[in-house]
Amino acid sequence: MKKNLVLIETLHTGSGLEIIKAAKSKGVKIHFITAEYSWFECHCPAEIAEGINIIKVNWDKTSVRQEYLKLIHEQEKFSLFTQRDAFVEAVAEVAEEFKLNFTSSKAMKIARNKEKMREFFSQTFIPSPKYCYVNTKEELFISLKSLTFPFVAKPTKGSGSKDVIIIQSKTDLSMLDKFFNNESSANLLLEEFILGRVVSVESFTSNGKHHLLGVTNRLMGPQPYFVELGYAFPCRYENILQTKLEEYTKFILDKIEYKFGYSHIEYILGHDDVYLVEINARLGGGQLGKIMSYSLNLSVYELLIENLFETKEIDLDCKNLQAAACYTVYSQKPGVIESIKGMELASLFPNVLQVIQGLKIGDYAKETKDMMGQVAQVIATGNTPENALISAHSAATSIVVEVK
Ligand SMILES: Nc1ncnc2c1ncn2[C@@H]1O[C@H](COP(=O)(O)OP(=O)(O)O)[C@@H](O)[C@H]1O
Ligand SMILES: [Mg+2]
Repeated sequence: MKKNLVLIETLHTGSGLEIIKAAKSKGVKIHFITAEYSWFECHCPAEIAEGINIIKVNWDKTSVRQEYLKLIHEQEKFSLFTQRDAFVEAVAEVAEEFKLNFTSSKAMKIARNKEKMREFFSQTFIPSPKYCYVNTKEELFISLKSLTFPFVAKPTKGSGSKDVIIIQSKTDLSMLDKFFNNESSANLLLEEFILGRVVSVESFTSNGKHHLLGVTNRLMGPQPYFVELGYAFPCRYENILQTKLEEYTKFILDKIEYKFGYSHIEYILGHDDVYLVEINARLGGGQLGKIMSYSLNLSVYELLIENLFETKEIDLDCKNLQAAACYTVYSQKPGVIESIKGMELASLFPNVLQVIQGLKIGDYAKETKDMMGQVAQVIATGNTPENALISAHSAATSIVVEVK
């Protein structure tokens, strides 16, 4: 039976194009529904766009459910997917109604709201930082009675470290003013700052069975922001930590009734325990999918596409894997990019698999406060995650960005 994939606005994330390529390679017909066709045109090369049924919509006038209903019929198989955070909840609801393989609506609601997530796990054994949820400046001042400096402030529905900031003392509080300046509630989560290594556990759930694929580490940029400069996969930690990461992840996925899909759960390895940071009900962002595919010796995107249509028994061998890493280059200063040098040189460095260009000459590079605005991403391999990251970083240092 012919297979159809209805994709909602999925091209904005690092893995969107890879999902399209994987579906095409499996002979799946793609229906791409978008309100931002110009984005599709810019980011999907013509040879890949060929054969895709592009449906332009205005989301004020239609819904994921209506668009899905217009397409389906009994003679062919249909599945529905998105990677775009703004649409995941709507897609989860439609998928549930039509019994399609996608993250459950309950799991999606908890994962997409950091305050809900904290509250949900507060009654469990999963260690979490102390936190306060505030909507107004008055609430912020009240919360200071129970929170100690430094603490981390973040929007409850954010991603990519956007607007995540460390507040060291009272003088830093003015950095939060922008959240309290408009009519709507601030929706800010304030959390005890946990010092330690930031990691994530990557997993794929099919038919309710969680396959833990491995752990990714992080190389963070300078505070007060939380920009990830590099990451490597698969990392192993001391037995106690590794066991906790695996146990906590399985517990979390079971507790939120995770039945299908990738998950990317972030933790901090604090001095006394492993703390839950956030749950992403999707594949990790950036180049993580590519790195995992290389390391696991399979396409994580093809695995997803196959399982969207039929639940298969998966037998993954996640031992003795080759390591891979990514290092991201940002502009040192904000401004219009005048030149980018050293891309070719970086690609010739030992162990480099790929150098991916982001911003181009003429684009505006903003100040690096979150993970938007990458100029280049260098992917490298190694016999250990540390060595892979050293290779990626070493090659990345030859890339020089000049702005005016
Ligand atoms: N309570 C915390 N203590 C220390 N660091 C934190 C804390 N919360 C978040 N961070 C850091 O900020 C980053 C971004 O926060 P996160 O909650 O993951 O938001 P986002 O959805 O934007 O990724 C995390 O990866 C981590 O490095
Ligand atoms: Mg995060």
